[in-house]
Amino acid sequence: MQFATAATLIALAATSSVSATCLEQAPSALGFPINYDITPSRSDAVSFQIPPNSAGPCQLVAKFPAGYPVFSVGDDLVNVTALDGPAPGALVGSLRFRAGTTTVINSFGCRDVMAYELALANPDGNGEVSFSEIQGAGLFMEVGDCTIF
Ligand SMILES: *[C@@H]1O[C@H](CO)[C@@H](O)[C@H](O)[C@H]1NC(C)=O
Repeated sequence: MQFATAATLIALAATSSVSATCLEQAPSALGFPINYDITPSRSDAVSFQIPPNSAGPCQLVAKFPAGYPVFSVGDDLVNVTALDGPAPGALVGSLRFRAGTTTVINSFGCRDVMAYELALANPDGNGEVSFSEIQGAGLFMEVGDCTIF
């Protein structure tokens, strides 16, 4: 009986570790770093390739280690708009890019390709945001059961 109980617990532990799979997908790019520069006259686009049939959810996040160089001036709120999927053109979130923060922009059902536009929320302002994406800093799609914080 004791043995059966222990075996059951081991089986449960193994099951839960399998379901806790998480893929942190970086944007599609010809190379790294990916340089973003969002100004009143210039938006950027970001696109993710997601493994087919990913269970999801797919969470779009922006994460920067403390002290990471993010250049930002003026009215720097950025609107994130879907470029494809069920609602192209829909605003999916707004954020300010800041070192030392992780921001969940939105959560979606996963698709094979997921693309977004980044543009200043106030294009009549004097804001600008620029940063370089490297491993561990920038925009990512968290696929599956990811602990974000
Ligand atoms: C950004 O989103 C806000 C809504 O949160 C909207 O009022 C504003 O017009 C948007 N900016 C642009 C340039 O679409």
